[in-house]
Amino acid sequence: MKRKRSTADTVPTDMPKNIRKYWYRRYDMFRRFDEGIKLSNEMWFSVTPEAIALYISNQVKLRLPDAKVVLDAFGGAGGNSIQFVYDFDKVYYMDINNENVALARHNAGVYGVRDYINFMEGDFFNLESRHLNAFESDPVDVVFLSPPWGGPAYNTQAVWNLSSCEPYPIQDVVKAALKISPNIVLYLPRNSNLDEIVDLIPESVSNRPVLQYLCQNGHCAAVVVYIGPDFVARRDPDTIPVKEDEYEASIAISPEDKA
Ligand SMILES: C[S@@+](CC[C@H](N)C(=O)[O-])C[C@H]1O[C@@H](n2cnc3c(N)ncnc32)[C@H](O)[C@@H]1O
Repeated sequence: MKRKRSTADTVPTDMPKNIRKYWYRRYDMFRRFDEGIKLSNEMWFSVTPEAIALYISNQVKLRLPDAKVVLDAFGGAGGNSIQFVYDFDKVYYMDINNENVALARHNAGVYGVRDYINFMEGDFFNLESRHLNAFESDPVDVVFLSPPWGGPAYNTQAVWNLSSCEPYPIQDVVKAALKISPNIVLYLPRNSNLDEIVDLIPESVSNRPVLQYLCQNGHCAAVVVYIGPDFVARRDPDTIPVKEDEYEASIAISPEDKA
């Protein structure tokens, strides 16, 4: 069935030129875009597309079957948190920017899941006692990390180094997450430096990290890294293994690409 399109299919005139191309992908970002989804200029190129967010949520649940509580530490416009609601009993959302928190609340409302997300405004690197108290009463089983990638420039590099990511080196992000849970899921550029990814694994974790290259609309969109002692090994029927060495890697093809 053809997706129902908005009658106004022209780019809004007040949209800055550099983000106009994202408007044409609005239904990839949120299938229910026309029901009132709101994005800021920054969120237009930052939000996780809905099919990818759904896939990640399903994968985290399948690979951590006992997990009940997830923290979306860099929650943005809510793309991931909204999808986590369907797989987890409790979803903590955090973002440092109060405008993004408002956008995420609003967008979760469009999907009818606002009351199922615990919205927190705050700095993930400097958690306040109210956040820590919440995590103490409902301990976080897995931390999902979709930190800023330093803008669209990552796309122009052959290899994207985790250590030179602005404003936060990914190593620092992982270090902060490990204070909350030993199980973490990272959403990174597809050209991320693999040696640096392998080096992220704490010595206490004996299982290899799992990398999934996610493809959508015929191109590789991102790599997702699952790190932690509680992840169970599994291979999905829609993944193609690409290498088994220090890590296990696979390519996951989105349903649209397979059709
Ligand atoms: C790539 S976006 C996340 C997009 C999100 N996954 C989505 O689907 O909407 C990164 C987010 O991290 C937030 N952020 C940046 N520094 C932060 C910090 N220290 N603590 C918490 N959030 C932070 C930004 O405000 C931004 O919304």
